Amino acid sequence: GAPVTADITGLAEGQRLILEWRGQPIWIVKRSKAILDALPTLDGHLRDPKSENKDQQPEYVFKASPELRSLKPDISVLVGLCTHLGCSPEMKAEIRPEPFDPEWKGGYFCPCHKSRFDMAGRVFQGVPAPINLLVPPHHYENDNTIVIG
Ligand code: FES
Repeated sequence: GAPVTADITGLAEGQRLILEWRGQPIWIVKRSKAILDALPTLDGHLRDPKSENKDQQPEYVFKASPELRSLKPDISVLVGLCTHLGCSPEMKAEIRPEPFDPEWKGGYFCPCHKSRFDMAGRVFQGVPAPINLLVPPHHYENDNTIVIG
């Protein structure tokens, strides 16, 4: 499939833009400072906090940040499919108690078999999804233009 371009000029904190690339949903999410500050506190609860499984993201994203899993700190780009059996996880981006986790710091919850991921798409321990959400190949054409693919 051809690359897909997105303008993120109007993307506000906590908002998500959903595109389609190669038949897959691609999420572009702008994370707040509170969310970014919460991410390192989750490391001990995650299966692969430093994204050591190299199949989960392009090498240049890993090099930019193995923990934020993004080229820019605030902008997260993910394939919006659960790595268990491909359901569509729900975004629960607020830092507030959730029925499945009173300590919830924002992230994604898959309703099919209850897998959970943080706001970097990193999978929690003890859920069926084996690996982090995938980061698709992408780059910035300029400050506000992302090219997926
Ligand atoms: Fe998401 Fe099974 S498909 S937990």
